[in-house]
Amino acid sequence: MLRAEVAIIGGSGLCSIQVFKTVKTVKVNTPYGMSPELLIGEIGGRDIAFLPRHGKKHTTPPHLVNYRANIWALHKLGVKRILATTSCGSINPQMQPGELALLTQFIDFTTCRAHTFYEGGKSGVVHIDVTEPYCPELRGAVRKTAKKLRVKVHPHATYACTEGPRFETAAEIKALQILGSDLVGMTNVPECVLARELEMCYAAIGIITNSAAGVSKKKLTYTEVVKTLEKNTACIQGLLLEAIPEIPKRRSCSCSSVLKGAVVKV
Ligand code: HPA
Repeated sequence: MLRAEVAIIGGSGLCSIQVFKTVKTVKVNTPYGMSPELLIGEIGGRDIAFLPRHGKKHTTPPHLVNYRANIWALHKLGVKRILATTSCGSINPQMQPGELALLTQFIDFTTCRAHTFYEGGKSGVVHIDVTEPYCPELRGAVRKTAKKLRVKVHPHATYACTEGPRFETAAEIKALQILGSDLVGMTNVPECVLARELEMCYAAIGIITNSAAGVSKKKLTYTEVVKTLEKNTACIQGLLLEAIPEIPKRRSCSCSSVLKGAVVKV
């Protein structure tokens, strides 16, 4: 069985990756009705898995991504750290299209996704703490690398996750702004939560692709999103490539003990 210690989950615009040394493809069986296909390679002497969230050819929309199968497959390979990319619309005018932001909080507005591995019965009942949903150690590695590479990354962003696949109405974005959201996207929940449920460290780099609905006068199109993503691909791949060696070998965050005190005893 192939193993990997760190995984990259590529969002829209990052369905393949050019930064690997050796690449093998593996299909990992899961109990969640899907066997995700992953690439395994090496960065700086460390075994890395790459998983395109929407599939190799971007054929799965955000609300139909099998988040449990994806995270389960990474866990089965031995992955302890996940760096994800996620495209976002900007609500906060200080965060502009073309820039990057590290997510630090999320607000969940999704409605029809499987949000947990623990569904009672044999799998038990678990209530994890998500006060700080994104791993501080991984975020630190990205911030340090961004500084070194002189890439502008907003260090703190609150992300609102909508169900999609449609974009939001102007009124919805106004409401999200009042609630304190900086960015809006469709994929980071429950991905982030599921990783945490398996005590994996998880951080997400938001690629800001557009002003959210009603924030600018311009009509919002997916074509605009793709154009901005294409412009950012080389930069984000460079950032990931350099950030991975910055991740300490041993974990000193609390992500590895999330289940302590979270499991309902029967
Ligand atoms: N809304 C939701 N998801 C997104 C957006 C947006 O404006 N841009 C990129 N993903």
